[in-house]
Amino acid sequence: MSYLSTRDFLDDKDFVDRWQYTLRTGELDLSWMQAATEPVRCTPQNERRGLTFRDLDVPGYGFSAMPEVARANRSFAPRGAEIPPGCPDLQAEVNRKSEVWAYNIEGYYEEAMSRQWNATTDVPWAELAKVELPDDIAKAYAQLLTFLTEVEMIATDVPAKWMGHLNADFFEVKNFISTQVMDEARHAEVFRKRALTTGWGLMRASPQNELNLMAQIPDMFHTQKEYCFRAMEQDAFPRFLRSKAFGNLTPVSALVRLVVGLIVLWIGLAVGFSLIFLDVQPKSKRFFVSAFSLLCSDSY
Ligand SMILES: [Fe+2]
Repeated sequence: MSYLSTRDFLDDKDFVDRWQYTLRTGELDLSWMQAATEPVRCTPQNERRGLTFRDLDVPGYGFSAMPEVARANRSFAPRGAEIPPGCPDLQAEVNRKSEVWAYNIEGYYEEAMSRQWNATTDVPWAELAKVELPDDIAKAYAQLLTFLTEVEMIATDVPAKWMGHLNADFFEVKNFISTQVMDEARHAEVFRKRALTTGWGLMRASPQNELNLMAQIPDMFHTQKEYCFRAMEQDAFPRFLRSKAFGNLTPVSALVRLVVGLIVLWIGLAVGFSLIFLDVQPKSKRFFVSAFSLLCSDSY
């Protein structure tokens, strides 16, 4: 017992007494049998396909009747289970279904599971080893494979980081993401294996590529992002509003600008019509004078 726990329960006299009392009297606590949930019957709609998540889409347990915001479940309670008091709040950040759900996500999971391949046995490694590549080609290939391995390692980390951020009620989405994580891990595996079978092994990692890829990781540079956001929110943005938006919107300045704009517009139109009535030549002179006047009025 102490193997799994931080303390040895056999040292706990109360616990041992309760245990012995229960064994002696047979007064077992069977309250767990009274869970406030509904019995259901789920069967495969298609025998050939088997029991899919869609077959489990029944009232009380399914995804169709889920509310837009998962408010009840803040723990790892499986959707549909009774949630007794005392379940921990895991503070999932994504609790809104529309933020993560995609049409047929449960089907994508089933498809991802049924179409797995095995990089160890599905690639004819022995056949590939027989092919001799020219040195320069093999080196370039090994360099490309080194880069691709980096990419795939990042591609494994990025979707995996999202798992803990999602509410447990969105487990179909989480399951699908985990297939994506597995897929990317296999890509990293296969590129590494291929690099080491070219005979040249891995070549040089690329700091620039890694820096570019790191920006894709949600939690990476979180502190720096937070600092920049706070600085912009508390300093740069209010100053921008003061200097631009609010400056333009005071009632007096807006009125003054409107009046000046209308006067300049009136002058522009008057000059334009005067030039037309006076039949000033060449005609392009009328156009430029009128356009200049209109532009001046527009700037107010
Ligand atoms: Fe990949």
